[in-house]
Amino acid sequence: MTMPNYVKIVEVGPRDGLQNEKAMVPTDVKVALINQLTDAGFVNIEAASFVSPKWVPQMADGADVMARIQRRAGTLYSALTPNMKGFEGAIAAGADEVVIFGAASEAFSQKNINCSIAESIARFAPVAAAAKEQGVRLRGSISCALGCPYQGEVPVSSVVDVVRRMRELGCDEIDIADTIGVGTPGRVQEVMRAAAAEFALDRISGHFHDTYGQALSNILASLEVGVAIFHASVAGLGGCPYAKGATGNVATEDVLYMLHGMGIHTGIDLEAVVRAGDYISQAIGRANSSRVGRALLTKWAAASDAAPACV
Ligand code: HMG
Ligand code: MG
Repeated sequence: MTMPNYVKIVEVGPRDGLQNEKAMVPTDVKVALINQLTDAGFVNIEAASFVSPKWVPQMADGADVMARIQRRAGTLYSALTPNMKGFEGAIAAGADEVVIFGAASEAFSQKNINCSIAESIARFAPVAAAAKEQGVRLRGSISCALGCPYQGEVPVSSVVDVVRRMRELGCDEIDIADTIGVGTPGRVQEVMRAAAAEFALDRISGHFHDTYGQALSNILASLEVGVAIFHASVAGLGGCPYAKGATGNVATEDVLYMLHGMGIHTGIDLEAVVRAGDYISQAIGRANSSRVGRALLTKWAAASDAAPACV
């Protein structure tokens, strides 16, 4: 299998990255972040979640965020939609893609969306049908594909089963998500190959949280089996409110640095993403978790200190 020469990066920082923040992030900050990411050249940004505000208060301003961002033609702005109420909110807000999110683990499904896997598929069915009817792109996300914080091991067959059900619902793209970042490259390849036996490989994505520091290796392992879509979060922000201790997604800056270094195109301006990562880290008062972001910011600061003063 040859490596892809183009990779689509789905920037999930504004949603996965911010959803776990305890203090409310002002809507203006979310909008400014998405606008900076748009300018950096992403073709897909996960911008909001239309979930219960009691479950995830940080995402309650999704409609406002979507109304105020400056959209770029060619960029899809996605939103999470666990049920019809979420779907209606997302469509009213002009989402280009809706995301139904299930799990390969029964225990996580209960904790995250308060129902069994089978019940979740039944809830997703009308969302999927409505998305198809309205011509809106439909993505399916499968949490705990590499392990579960409650149940531990997750059999590959459980992942494959949900991939099949999401395919039957008509998903255009399916995310294999390592919610708690426990996967390692060999297992990741096994899961990706098994998923690809059920669904087109070029529409499967890798969504890796970096809790155990395995995410970049897992991306490389996925590239080796032909996966060419990855999710990443600017400055490595984030975590899942229903997966305690899970850290953010792999940092977008680190993924871009690796891919560009390998000669793989993304169409994204790394330096612009580093500046966006610096902006959001300062705005929410968090250390920047991107190694590449920190390295480049330090290098730029040193270069500007060394520059002769203007006279
Ligand atoms: P429930 O309590 O079983 O739902 O929650 P319900 O239908 O009984 O409704 C309860 C209340 O929520 C009602 O309000 C509904 O109106 C309201 P009340 O009558 O009590 O005032 N409600 C809603 N409000 C706004 N938008 C909606 C909505 N639906 C119901 N869409 C539910 C079920 C799915 C709603 C809930 O469990 C929920 O919102 N869960 C979301 C959890 C979440 O957002 N988790 C993080 C995102 S997933 C993730 O991060 C993983 C991912 O990154 C991949 C990975 O890394 O693994 C994608
Ligand atoms: Mg996630």
